[in-house]
Amino acid sequence: MTDVVVVGSGIAGLTAALHAAEAGCRVTVVTKGALADTNTRWAQGGIAAVTATDDTLASHAADTLTAGVGLNDADAVRTLVTEGPARIAELVRRGVAFDRADDGDFARGLEAAHARPRVLHAGGDATGAAIQSALGAAVRASAIEVLEHTMLCELVREGGRIIAVDVDTAGVARRLPADAVILATGGAGQLYSHTTNPRSATGDGIAAALRVGAAVADLEFVQFHPTALAAGEPFLVSEAVRGDGAILVDDTGRRFAFDAHPDGELAPRDVVARASARAMAAQGGRPVHLDATALGRDHLARRFPTIDAAVRARGLDWAREPIPVTPAAHYLMGGVVTDLDGRTTVPGLYAVGETARTGVHGANRLASNSLLEGAVFGARAGDAAATDAPWPDVAAPAAIPLADVEASPDAAPFTRAALQDLMWQNAGLVRDEAGLRRAAGVLAAWASAATPPSLEDAGLLVLARHIVAAALARTDSIGAHFRADAGTVSRADAPSALAAQEALAC
Ligand code: SIN
Repeated sequence: MTDVVVVGSGIAGLTAALHAAEAGCRVTVVTKGALADTNTRWAQGGIAAVTATDDTLASHAADTLTAGVGLNDADAVRTLVTEGPARIAELVRRGVAFDRADDGDFARGLEAAHARPRVLHAGGDATGAAIQSALGAAVRASAIEVLEHTMLCELVREGGRIIAVDVDTAGVARRLPADAVILATGGAGQLYSHTTNPRSATGDGIAAALRVGAAVADLEFVQFHPTALAAGEPFLVSEAVRGDGAILVDDTGRRFAFDAHPDGELAPRDVVARASARAMAAQGGRPVHLDATALGRDHLARRFPTIDAAVRARGLDWAREPIPVTPAAHYLMGGVVTDLDGRTTVPGLYAVGETARTGVHGANRLASNSLLEGAVFGARAGDAAATDAPWPDVAAPAAIPLADVEASPDAAPFTRAALQDLMWQNAGLVRDEAGLRRAAGVLAAWASAATPPSLEDAGLLVLARHIVAAALARTDSIGAHFRADAGTVSRADAPSALAAQEALAC
């Protein structure tokens, strides 16, 4: 029987685990918190997929390509959109009660850069929680073994392939032998001072994959969400709120998003986030405001109950006045290079969801494509893990070496907060060569000093060095990677809807 270890318990990991188990594998899920303590659980807006006759796969593909500025892998995009409807049906079968319209069809939200409303949601704005709960229940009801509060330490590579994974549960180390290891540890929002991600988003899987020589790519593409609540603990205010008509204004009440793009607040996420950052810089760094007052108290409470509660818990009344928001690190488009079945360049090792780089997102992820990515590619990896042999070659782009810079002699000692500030200031929404080189120097100094205090910090440091190297290597601005000292690759160069339709034939 094939032994499969899945590391991570969000939508990608649990979908992979369920598929591998249903294909007859003996499956263990390892997760460093509780089973439900994932980034998936925090997802609000929803999951994008074509589920209605007034929408088309080609339109979803075209929107994905346009948001990704055409840097996407066309096969990955085709796979995502064409297999999306089946994965939605699977989620429904597993018990996810997506919200319904009066006619009984799925209620569909509109989000930025989607040509049509196609974002399914559950519990209003609690989509991730609904998915997490249904998949968690399915796993608990299956023969899958679940190891909670268990940290991934190292992947064990022998004879060229992964044969086991070393983990630690409350100080007790153990080795889990495996024919296949599927990394589904999510992204690394904790690299930045402002993030919409939970504390667990420390890029553990990507760092472990790097340590065993797996190829990574596209790490310069870090997505910043335009609207994290800038009051109290960081909290995402879903794009769906703007989709329903909320607008962004500066301190003077001026609506600024149209300065940046004809679609205003519904322009691609990177455009809106940079417009907000510019407006904040012009007003001394103070947050901009999201004005949702036109939506009305009843609609806000009914459609966005989670956000409504979070806003009110901070003493704000968004039905009456605009609320302060700031851009925040949200999603890593790059990651461990995989083929369409999650295979990495290291035999026996798979990566799925935010940990993986399938190329599906190109330079910028389309809103609400991430849960869909987890469902589609998680399923494919789970199926593949059950049957793979021999291991096919997985194509990887040329590796980007770490930046060739002197370790900064005056770097302050490493702390998580210092790392986050360094990345926010120098490798954030807007970068330039001088800032990236400064960051590379400090990171090199930290890397040559004593090992950071925790495995998570050590992983974040490794990942930061690769992100900075990738950002230095890409000297143009494109999508989420914006170099203030370089020209911009025009969005006009992105494939048009028609070209995408022809190219993808879907
Ligand atoms: C949101 O609800 O705005 C986030 C959805 C996403 O990141 O795709």
